[in-house]
Amino acid sequence: MQHTDIIKLLSTAPSMHPVTVCGWVRAFRSNRFINLNDGSTIHNIQCVIDFEAFDAEILSKITVGAAIEIKGVLVESQGQGQKVEIQVSEVTVLGEADPEEVKLTILSPKRHSLEKLREQAHLRVRTNTFGAVMRTRSKLSFAVHEYFQKNGFYHMHSPIITGSDAEGAGEMFKISNLPHNNAPVNEDGTIDYKQDFFGKETNLTVSGQLEAETYAMGLGKVYTFGPTFRAENSNTSRHLAEFWMIEPEVAFCDLAGNMDLAEDFIKYVVAYALENCADDLAFLEKRLIDSEKTKPQAERSDMALTDKLKFILENNFKRVTYTEAIEILKRSKPNQKKKFKYIIDEWGADLQSEHERFLVEKHFKCPVILFDYPAKIKSFYMRLNDDGKTVRAMDVLFPGIGEIAGGSQREERYEVLVQKMKDMNIPQDELYWYLDLRKFGTCVHSGFGLGFERLVQFVTGMGNIRDVIPYPRSPGNAEF
Ligand code: 4AD
Ligand code: MG
Repeated sequence: MQHTDIIKLLSTAPSMHPVTVCGWVRAFRSNRFINLNDGSTIHNIQCVIDFEAFDAEILSKITVGAAIEIKGVLVESQGQGQKVEIQVSEVTVLGEADPEEVKLTILSPKRHSLEKLREQAHLRVRTNTFGAVMRTRSKLSFAVHEYFQKNGFYHMHSPIITGSDAEGAGEMFKISNLPHNNAPVNEDGTIDYKQDFFGKETNLTVSGQLEAETYAMGLGKVYTFGPTFRAENSNTSRHLAEFWMIEPEVAFCDLAGNMDLAEDFIKYVVAYALENCADDLAFLEKRLIDSEKTKPQAERSDMALTDKLKFILENNFKRVTYTEAIEILKRSKPNQKKKFKYIIDEWGADLQSEHERFLVEKHFKCPVILFDYPAKIKSFYMRLNDDGKTVRAMDVLFPGIGEIAGGSQREERYEVLVQKMKDMNIPQDELYWYLDLRKFGTCVHSGFGLGFERLVQFVTGMGNIRDVIPYPRSPGNAEF
């Protein structure tokens, strides 16, 4: 079907040239003004129809939610709010939408709660909010690739089905084709995975890092950008069971270089969104300001969305060691007044999101990169420092989000890595290939993982991570 995207028409000079548009009806007022949206932009195009020249039956089918095709001419708009509009000469109703049924859905023209929208996730992208979020998500995804491709990185597709646990945290979804109630068993009663599809135990990947490391050891600079899965029972506004992760991995790069890369990368994609998603971000910003008005003064954020994004670009990320952070937290008011849920009383404590957000939002008031964490609370593959108790780990902490990215310089020394795997009960036979990298031309290398949905959350200002991915998966929820 030959037709022009609405985004293109809205920036075209009124020419009286014939045009064709297709879209979904957002409103039809006074039997005369059709507001049409085709998803190409947050803005609708107004189509003006002379009702006397059209069949009453056709007019009765131009209802909210219906898909229609319109032919007409692009003219200067007489009304306010738009430069151009279409004078309609022909309407074809492509797909009807029964007003009685539409009334019961989120397509009905009134404000619906985000929870309600989540229940009808198959329709929510037709709302202004989700259209804006999902267009921004798409642009950000492109910006991710653009950044790495422009900077000499190669994209590698890490496997989704794996035989290993990249994080060593045991939070994996198992994959098996064995019958649930009649699986073959070994003599000791355990399930005999040798008879399973892959002849061994397999899972959905929790991270593409280990495989990305193998590729960095040949291609130098690589990144993965794929789905990852975590069977952690976290019912929070920042956790999903299925999320997309961006993981660069760089040979001949230490932790300082890794921090530089993370900061430069995040600034690039945020700047890209500001430049390329202006209309959607303006809408989301207004939406946030409106919803903030219903909150008590103390809970309102002191910066508008786009100001918050610009703030990220204009400020250096503050680099702070874990040890310094613990000192700050120990002395902090919420710790001393026992306002934190988890009180920090000694070095070695794992930081919770409340602590991360305190450091970023209250103490430093800018993005923070914490580094040199205690070895005990971090993964086996991180490089041990000379003090023997901290590792070259880093977490990037953002306002409103907490941890947006986490990474490290990797342990490149064979013996040290073997010892760490022993200490942390990581099976060496499963990861022989990972150890091989340390035997054949090992070198200093580093990387990090950034949760794409947390980035989209930050850029769009959405409070719940379930509202920045088309079909969220979380404990007890895999609808659609
Ligand atoms: O900190 P994580 O677990 O680190 C890794 O997986 C490393 N292998 C990354 C690397 O060095 N290549 O996860 C990295 C990021 C987190 O900072 C967070 O942004 C996101 O992934 N993330 C989640 N996002 C949504 N839902 C979850 N359940 C997430 N778990 C982690
Ligand atoms: Mg982490």
